Amino acid sequence: AAAELGPYRHYMQKEIFEQPRAVSDTLQDIESITPELFGDEAFGIFKSIDRILILACGTSYYAGLTARYWIESIAGIPVNVEIASEYRYRDSVPDPRSLVVTISQSGETADTLAALKHARKLGMENTLTICNVATSDMVRECRLAYITRAGAEIGVASTKAFTTQLAGLFLLSLALADVRGRLTPEQEAKHLKALRHLPSAISAVLALEPQIMAWADRFATKENALFLGRGLHYPIALEGALKLKEISYIHAEAYPAGELKHGPLALVTEHMPVVTIAPNDELLEKLKSNMQEVHARGGELYVFADADTRISGGDGIHVIRMPEHYGRLSPLLHTIPLQLLAYHTACVRGTDVDKPRNLAKSVTVE
Ligand code: G6P
Repeated sequence: AAAELGPYRHYMQKEIFEQPRAVSDTLQDIESITPELFGDEAFGIFKSIDRILILACGTSYYAGLTARYWIESIAGIPVNVEIASEYRYRDSVPDPRSLVVTISQSGETADTLAALKHARKLGMENTLTICNVATSDMVRECRLAYITRAGAEIGVASTKAFTTQLAGLFLLSLALADVRGRLTPEQEAKHLKALRHLPSAISAVLALEPQIMAWADRFATKENALFLGRGLHYPIALEGALKLKEISYIHAEAYPAGELKHGPLALVTEHMPVVTIAPNDELLEKLKSNMQEVHARGGELYVFADADTRISGGDGIHVIRMPEHYGRLSPLLHTIPLQLLAYHTACVRGTDVDKPRNLAKSVTVE
């Protein structure tokens, strides 16, 4: 195993650092956005649907939540995202004109497979999966598929599978937009350029590791943490909190920053680190006032701020500077430092990073 790990201490760290390669392989050498990227029948299916139902578990569910923002804004199609184990057991109102999208690293998660079958039984025959294992049951069971090329993921806490799912889901948003005549050649060229540049943009973020390690030393002494994001980055806050709890066993929760005043502000004291995702998007000013709400109550802010946000460090506010804002693909960049923060915090605490207690890599029984 030592040879396989190379310079890394754990598979999780190795897999975090593989992300430029994993994303690049997943995007292959896509030269244009076409529905056929998802299968031969994709054009007809994409034309015939008028809503989307995304089903997944765990980290894959958070990829689905991110995709909702993309699909609704880029393709203009209404999206519902559900946790597979909830969907399969509740009464829902099926719409045969739905595209059912499952997201799964392993392609063998029992709840996600059962949710897919449940949807089909309700009459929804248009199925697509974003999956990392081409030979899995999930891929066999769906009419359309996009195979992510993360490669084998060994660490129980998902990292490179997540970013490659996001890449696949962004392509799906563009392909759906294209079929609906919502993607001009100029927009297509702009998106393709941003996608091609992603691996090097991810590498630039990975270079922040030493700064994040310094934060991890402080996090390791805490028992609680709050993660804040807004819009597209709210699911990234959820994923950041999940990573921290899974491997460092620190209780963490994520909130959309605008919801702070409806509860979590009551938890804020100088003992509560508040990790804030601060992209330079249209919600920046709103986010800054949310940060002020935390600061005024003595909360300790740890902010991942895009270069041009004019957020600076000071008393009770620590800042790690991210590169320039990366537009709609920004979630792929902002998730990386949160993976590193969870990873290094767990290392300081001495937990079993690649095999956290009570968790399994894929949950093939209910
Ligand atoms: C387990 C893993 C998670 C993963 C989830 C869903 O809980 O520990 O990392 O996100 O299963 O797995 P899937 O293979 O369906 O993406």
